[in-house]
This record gives sequence, C-alpha cells and structure tokens, in this order.
Amino acid sequence: EKGGYEHFMLKEIYEQPSVIKDTYRGRLLANKGIVQMAGVEDNIEKFLNAERIIIVACGTSWHAGLVAEYIFEEFARIPVEVEYASEFRYRNPIINPKDVVIAISQSGETADTLAAIKLAKEKGAFVFGVCNVVGSSISRETHAGAYTHAGPEIGVASTKAFTTQITILTLISLRLAKAKGTMSNSDFHRYLQELEAIPEKVAEALATNDIAKTIASIYKDAPNCLYLGRGYNFPVALEGALKLKEISYIHAEGYPAAEMKHGPIALIDEKMPVIIVAPKQGHYDKVVSNIQEIKSRSGKIIAVVTKGDTQVKELADHVIEIPDTAEALTPLLTTIPLQLLSYHIAVMRGCNVDQPRNLAKSVTVE
Ligand code: F6R
Repeated sequence: EKGGYEHFMLKEIYEQPSVIKDTYRGRLLANKGIVQMAGVEDNIEKFLNAERIIIVACGTSWHAGLVAEYIFEEFARIPVEVEYASEFRYRNPIINPKDVVIAISQSGETADTLAAIKLAKEKGAFVFGVCNVVGSSISRETHAGAYTHAGPEIGVASTKAFTTQITILTLISLRLAKAKGTMSNSDFHRYLQELEAIPEKVAEALATNDIAKTIASIYKDAPNCLYLGRGYNFPVALEGALKLKEISYIHAEGYPAAEMKHGPIALIDEKMPVIIVAPKQGHYDKVVSNIQEIKSRSGKIIAVVTKGDTQVKELADHVIEIPDTAEALTPLLTTIPLQLLSYHIAVMRGCNVDQPRNLAKSVTVE
C-alpha cells in the first residue's frame, strides 16, 4: 500500500506531480485560456463582490492560506486576512456579509476550523471550503467549495495536501483576476501555461532527493534550525520549519528573512543551520544580502535556488536547485526539497515519520 516506498510520507511527497495534475484536471484549460471550478462559477458574484477574503485554517493548511494571501492580493487585488481558526473563533471577529471566508482543511474535520466556519455563517458571510477528504464535515458545512483531489494522505505530516491546496487557491485567484481585469491578458495566459507545466517541474524538484539526503546526513544532529524566506516564500519557510520539527523533533523556526535583524540573528553561530529559500525572482538581491549577514556570523547556509544561480552558490555551504517558474508559483517547487530534507533527517534520527509522537492526523478536538 506504500507503493514500494518506505513510508507513506515519502510516497505522498512523490505523488505530488500527479496529484497536482488531478487538482487542475478539467479546471485549467491553458490552451483555451479557461480556468473554471463549479463551486466558484456557481458563486462568482459573491467572489467578485467580496470586499475582503478571510482565510481560516490551522497548521500546514494555514501556511497554504498565507501563500494564497500573496497570490489573491497580487492577482485579484482583493484584501486578504489569514487567520488561525482557533484565534479567529474566540475573539469576536468582525465579519460582514460582503466577506468571503475560505476555510482550508485537508481532513475536513479540524474542530477549530469547523467552529470558525459556523461562526462566519452565523454572521452572514459566504463560506467556501478547500478540502481534500470528500464528504468531510467541513465540506458539508461550507456553502460551496472545491476539493483538492490529492487522494488519501496517510502520513501525519502534510505534504501533497499543501501543494494541492496552493494549486486550487491559485486557480481561484486566476479566475477572479480574469473576471476583474486585475491581471494583464498576457500575464494571465503565461500563468496558465506555467501552472500547467508545474507537475513536470515538481518532478524535477524531486530529483533533489539525493542532495537533500546528503545535507540531511550532515545536519541531522543539529539541535536547532532556522528557515528564512521572503514574499511568496515566507510561508514556505514556516512550512519547512513545521515539517522539520513535527517529524524530527528538532527545534526549528521559520521567519521572513528581513525579520532576522530584529532578533533571530542573535541565534546565529557556526553551529546553526539556516535554510534559506532564494529563488531568482522575488527580492533576490535582498535575500542575497540576508545570506551575507548569516555568512559573516559563520552560520551554515543551505539555500534553495533557481537552476543556474551563481550569486547564492558562492556564499552558501549547500545549494539545492529547483527549476525556474513564474514567481507566484515558486512555493510549489521550493517546498519540495524542504519536505525531502525533513523526511531524511527524521529517518536518520530513527523517528516514526508517518506517525510522529503526540500528533494525530485529524485534530477533532480543540
Ligand atoms: C502538519 C499538519 C497539521 C495540519 C493541521 C490542519 O503537517 O499535518 O499542522 O495541517 O492539523 O489539518 P487540516 O488541514 O486537516 O485541517
């Protein structure tokens, strides 16, 4: 049932090229310039009239929501707030009937997310679900939704759910951008083509497995790890850190790279591995100067870069190369080596990768 893989997590990491395709099948028709999802089409006026989008989720799904915040605001120019469902539900949030609430949940059973949905409905908002498990509580409780079609995710650490959630949210953003005219026609078509090409590029990113394994063998005994990224890849840094801590029990933190100098830089010494997401687009020069700051404090630098990079390569102790794509789609690629790195570190430390201690696949209690 693990399809020849040693763990479900690894199998699910490797399924990403095919499940991302399943996510956009029938919804993305790049050559025709069409993006469509029944749940969105049926409620297109609600989306187009939205004064604000509020995303509610927990854990990895919340990280997908953060990536979506950048994408929605850039593509469709709709203000977005991303909320931890557990915080949102308990603070008497301001919700208006013109708000669209998007709830993201792999399992569709997360108690806090479900409660946040009920609250938003009571306050008159339109609530849209992005779930993986068909027929789950959240998919039933929401007014409409779109399934990710990632197939069963057995490993407790979420992998393919994350990339398919980002795929769906990107499709929704593109659909709204087209309707609102907030994106040029040429960008719209370029993004459709790039998204269609993503599964192949994810497959290429999976070829970083060997280098991820080598890096894992060097840093597996580190007590701490710092993950940094900017823009679209700031949430990827958070997700990278979460993946490492939950399966390897190494303390890891994710930060926006520029926040380093506001505190975390004090942690840097020659023993601190810093994983930095540095694709060639998206504040590349700024990230390079962040890398220089780490280097001058003797931190160990593991950088995820775009194929062909030279600048970061000169500074970093290790580089992991991913294919080039449009800036907003980079999280779908930069995430892959971080998943692999966490996986190998956890395996080398003898951890139970598929069922980490103290964790459950669906958190049905608050
Ligand atoms: C992390 C992880 C958790 C879940 C979170 C939300 O790898 O699995 O952080 O992402 O419990 O779960 P869902 O998406 O099922 O609502």
